[in-house]
Amino acid sequence: MHAMRFPAEPFRIKVVEPLRSVSREERERLIVEAGLNIFAVPADSIYVDLLTDSGTSAMSDDQWAGLMLGDESYAGSRNFFHLVETIHDIFGYRHVIPTHQGRMAENLLFSTVLKPGDVVPNNIHFDTTRANVEHQGAEAVDLVIDEGLDPAVLHPFKGNLDPAKLDRLLGETGQGRVPLVMLTVTNNSGGGQPVSLANVRAVREVCDRHRVPLFFDACRFAENCWFIKEREPGYGNKSVTEIARELFSYGDGCTMSAKKDGLVNIGGFLALNNAEWAERVTNLLILVEGFPTYGGLAGRDLEAMARGLREVLNEDYLAFRVGQVAELGEMLDRAGVPIVKPVGGHAVYIDARRLLPHIPQSQFPGQALVVALYREFGIRSVEVGSLMFGHREPKTGEMVYPKLELVRLAVPRRVYTTEHMRFVAESVIQLQRRSDRLRGLKLTYEAPVLRHFTARLEEMAPGESAPGSAGPRAADVATPR
Ligand code: F0G
Repeated sequence: MHAMRFPAEPFRIKVVEPLRSVSREERERLIVEAGLNIFAVPADSIYVDLLTDSGTSAMSDDQWAGLMLGDESYAGSRNFFHLVETIHDIFGYRHVIPTHQGRMAENLLFSTVLKPGDVVPNNIHFDTTRANVEHQGAEAVDLVIDEGLDPAVLHPFKGNLDPAKLDRLLGETGQGRVPLVMLTVTNNSGGGQPVSLANVRAVREVCDRHRVPLFFDACRFAENCWFIKEREPGYGNKSVTEIARELFSYGDGCTMSAKKDGLVNIGGFLALNNAEWAERVTNLLILVEGFPTYGGLAGRDLEAMARGLREVLNEDYLAFRVGQVAELGEMLDRAGVPIVKPVGGHAVYIDARRLLPHIPQSQFPGQALVVALYREFGIRSVEVGSLMFGHREPKTGEMVYPKLELVRLAVPRRVYTTEHMRFVAESVIQLQRRSDRLRGLKLTYEAPVLRHFTARLEEMAPGESAPGSAGPRAADVATPR
């Protein structure tokens, strides 16, 4: 038997969702119709969908059973009390405010506590978190350790926030201008990298000295706590639940997208100790989201979330989950596909600039890889590079490209088997072998903001140079790694 380096699936399959087989010709037609934009391809024409791990989990039989016990009372649903009891037990925060997803928890918190000119430090803000901070006229500052920004450096806790950078920022920023510090566990925008408990304690100590509360962006808390158990000295014999309780004990609250480690398709919450903030958030919640005992959800959704928060801490599940993602990364790494290392908790990130060195950043090598993975194999991935972050400098009119040109393969929880992962790895490896045949892309339409969601592109003709670029390799020269 093939030597398994991580546990096999700790579940069996009771309900199946058939996948439609789609020919290469049909995929070719669909991706061209979509303007080479993977967001515009209908999901039922995708074989393995690794666009995101958010809201794409498979629920368990216990969660589905919980849906039938949904109490749809407008006020005081029993499922709300079950959720509160669960959150008290794991997270320990006094006030629980359910929301329909993570960004609403962020929006409610930041609209309540931030004012223009404020500053919010974080290891790295996720896009929606940054956008919600900036929406209040405040500044979002990323203070991850230097190792966290280098895709090749091996470090067990690349999501750590640099306490010295935080101390300096809090010392320099005027009194009362930092209403809270945030820590994202795991650090999604840095590659799903974990934060250690030693780092959380160090950050807490700095926060205490400057009298600033600490909040977690807890989306992938269970995966983070699993890494602590695996990698942090002194925690190997603690249960992941105990580790989670300790982690959250150093904070004053958290925002949560339960679409990740809540194992549900929709749901989230804000939990916090500050009664005055909770009261103001609750008043805003009633205005924009719903009554305090359901937030933006149905009673049944609250029940599925309460059950999911317990299940996600099951260590057989976590060993499989984190192991499956790591195995996908290792299959690629062994074949010489350049990836961000070490592999994070929820996704593998391919370094598209190294895979496609002949395509300059001005011609979207990451997106070229995304398109090829769909066209050739029916796999959906997402570009996190020049299409998502490239922009024109307002003063000079020059194009600015991000440092990293990545393609994310985010793995939904409990949805795909290890055989699917092998298929994905073999597909990427095959593409790498004939990567010189992939061509760069050019934009034919772009929206003024968040252009990657609606952009339309075309393949470059052989020998053609990108419009607006000084030459095919100019961008490579302008942004050395
Ligand atoms: N914080 C982090 C770290 C996230 O990864 C996300 C979502 C959010 C907050 C927002 O939560 O979607 O429920 O409103 N990340 C998804 C992703 C969209 O694909 O990485 P939400």
